[in-house]
Amino acid sequence: MAILVNNHSGETKPWVDALAACLPEFELHSYPAIPSNADIEYAVVWHHPHGDLMNYPNLKAILILGAGMDHINKELELPDVPIVRLLDPAVGDEMSQYVLYWVMHFQRDYERYRQQANIKQWQRFKTPLAREYRVSVLGAGEIGRYVSERLAINGFVTQNWSRSKKVIDQVQSFYGDDGLKTMLASTDTLVNCLPLVDSTHHFLDAHKLSALPKGCNIINISRGAVIADNALLKLLDSGHIAAAALDTFTLEPLSDESPYWQYDNVFITPHMSGATYPSLASQVIADNIRRIENGEPPFPIYIRPLN
Ligand code: GLV
Repeated sequence: MAILVNNHSGETKPWVDALAACLPEFELHSYPAIPSNADIEYAVVWHHPHGDLMNYPNLKAILILGAGMDHINKELELPDVPIVRLLDPAVGDEMSQYVLYWVMHFQRDYERYRQQANIKQWQRFKTPLAREYRVSVLGAGEIGRYVSERLAINGFVTQNWSRSKKVIDQVQSFYGDDGLKTMLASTDTLVNCLPLVDSTHHFLDAHKLSALPKGCNIINISRGAVIADNALLKLLDSGHIAAAALDTFTLEPLSDESPYWQYDNVFITPHMSGATYPSLASQVIADNIRRIENGEPPFPIYIRPLN
């Protein structure tokens, strides 16, 4: 019983160590040092080289070391086994805290207080109450839900949009093209939680971003390419979009030449909104492997979109 482990865009050893502690009955092999392909029953991977997963004839499941499925969506061929996303509550927690932090920053206009402090100015100004402040979340997948629930619990007027109708406690749900139009027009801060697939590439284009009220803010925690950068930059230039907190970018790391660095009202963070900690996430992965071993379905199984 062996598991292949590969965190191809980072360090694999911490994952091997953490998984070994949770699954002592398995042998763990750090890719590419795989003694026998036939022994591999599980592949725990992130950004694994395309095509390689076809090389393990006894594979029972592929477990992804993260929430984003854009890399696996690009595989031309995959073995016919369940693909399991990593749904780590610790990551959902961190991402929703990241969003809450920036929503509060925008709602109370803390940037203006910072600027006032720079010139020793002691002056209060009126800002909307949370119950008057409309935050719209795009996407009702696991992260979109988590974020929406956290905002609602904190008293914000929380709206959520997805392609089909979804129900989230204390959140006003919108769906479809008309729902999107209505929601965008009544937004103070827009939070992007849409996954990157063909149909969401540049989903937030000039047309949709212009449909937001003047002075709206943007938070992006999913993938950079869901936003058309040129459109966002133009709307920041014109002041239509007041500010943006961006954690993800079309190309990462963000290059020195990116125009985003030039904007005082663009708050850049290096894709840290929801870090995955091997010690916590390995327990979730190990639970899923045990479920499969006991003949139960793992959670959540990922169904690749037909592009
Ligand atoms: C990180 O961005 C992830 O998708 O888990």
